[in-house]
Order: sequence, then C-alpha cells, then structure tokens
Amino acid sequence: MTRTDILNAVIERTGARSYLEIGVRNPADNFFRVRCARKTGVDPANERALGVGWAIHPMTSAQYAATSPPPVDIIFIDGDHTAAGAAYDLATFAPLCRLALVAHDCWPGEGEDTGPVKPADGRPWCGGVWQAWSAWCCESGPWRRYLSLDDHGVGVAIRTASPRAPRWPQRPPDLAVWLGSWWRWCEPWR
Ligand SMILES: C[S@@+](CC[C@H](N)C(=O)[O-])C[C@H]1O[C@@H](n2cnc3c(N)ncnc32)[C@H](O)[C@@H]1O
Repeated sequence: MTRTDILNAVIERTGARSYLEIGVRNPADNFFRVRCARKTGVDPANERALGVGWAIHPMTSAQYAATSPPPVDIIFIDGDHTAAGAAYDLATFAPLCRLALVAHDCWPGEGEDTGPVKPADGRPWCGGVWQAWSAWCCESGPWRRYLSLDDHGVGVAIRTASPRAPRWPQRPPDLAVWLGSWWRWCEPWR
C-alpha cells in the first residue's frame, strides 16, 4: 500500500473535500493521483502550476503559512525532511487541519538515510521525520494516531473532535481491517 492509496482511502472515508500537500516534487508521483475536489500544493522547487480545482504554490511551507491559509480537510506533510523542519510543519499545519493529518517517511528502514542532509547518492531520505512524528504524537491533542509501516512509514492522525469523526471506526483493529493492510497502533501515542 502506498502513501497515495492511504491518502485516497482517508479522503474517501472522511468525505474530505479539500487537500493540502506540503512538499510536492513531481506532482505526477502523488499530487495528481490524489482524488479530492480541491487540491493545493506547496513546494519552493515547483513552478507555479494551476489547474481546475488545484494550485501548486512555489514557496516554502513557512512562506505559505505566512499567507494565513484557510483550514483544509486533509493535510499531507512531505516537505522539509529535517527533524526541525518536519516538526515545524506538523506544529504549524495541524491547527489548520479539519479531518486528518498525514505524514510521509515516518518509519525508515535499513536502506533509508536518516541523517540531517539529503544523501547525494540517491538513497531514499527519511531524515528526521520519524523523530518529529514521534514527538508530535506524544503531545496531547484531539487526534487518534496511526502508523502504516508501508512506503517508508505513513503516519495518520484523525481529528477526534471533528463532527465527521464518528464516521471512523472507534477502535484501531477496525481500521486495520478496513484498510486491508497491516497497521501498527501506537498505544503510547493515543
Ligand atoms: C520527498 S519530496 C515530496 C514528494 C511528494 N510529496 C510525493 O509524495 O511524491 C520533498 C519535497 O519537499 C520540498 N521541500 C523542501 N523543503 C520544503 C519546505 N520548507 N516547504 C515546502 N516544501 C519543501 C522539496 O522541494 C521536495 O520537492
């Protein structure tokens, strides 16, 4: 199961209508394949691109946050992979997130680099995202947190205070069955 599968499953199950992706790179890899009515991307390396129902802003997440963006149903954090950068994105965008916050590269395997700098040899770089995700999950908040070990680790946090939250299964094992994949429920993070 890929990050895109998980994002589309979360969008379908929550009835989300708006999506924000922090860190887009090549939009054909994920952004274009996410099925949501209104999509927004943020990446300093992207040329401005506009399409029907979507826009990709060529700026950093901090620059985008400074524009006072509106709340959004689903937010996918996949930008700055340093521990500090990912922690900033989680802390900054979680309050704007109405239904579900998803983060990529939360569970690095042996072949993935976890150093502070993107490796020059092309190896996958998970950086310090796992540290930021773990720390954020330890904080209290109106979230139910899950972690898929697929695709370098996909963290999912469902906002429990949302009026749409009751549409979700109440217990983690239900989610595992529902998604048809092996999900790891992180008991200490509840
Ligand atoms: C791993 S790629 C994103 C992959 C994409 N989300 C996908 O699923 O295929 C990380 C991207 O984050 C962007 N990035 C790095 N720092 C950023 C920041 N501070 N704000 C927004 N994007 C950032 C990089 O330019 C890069 O394109």
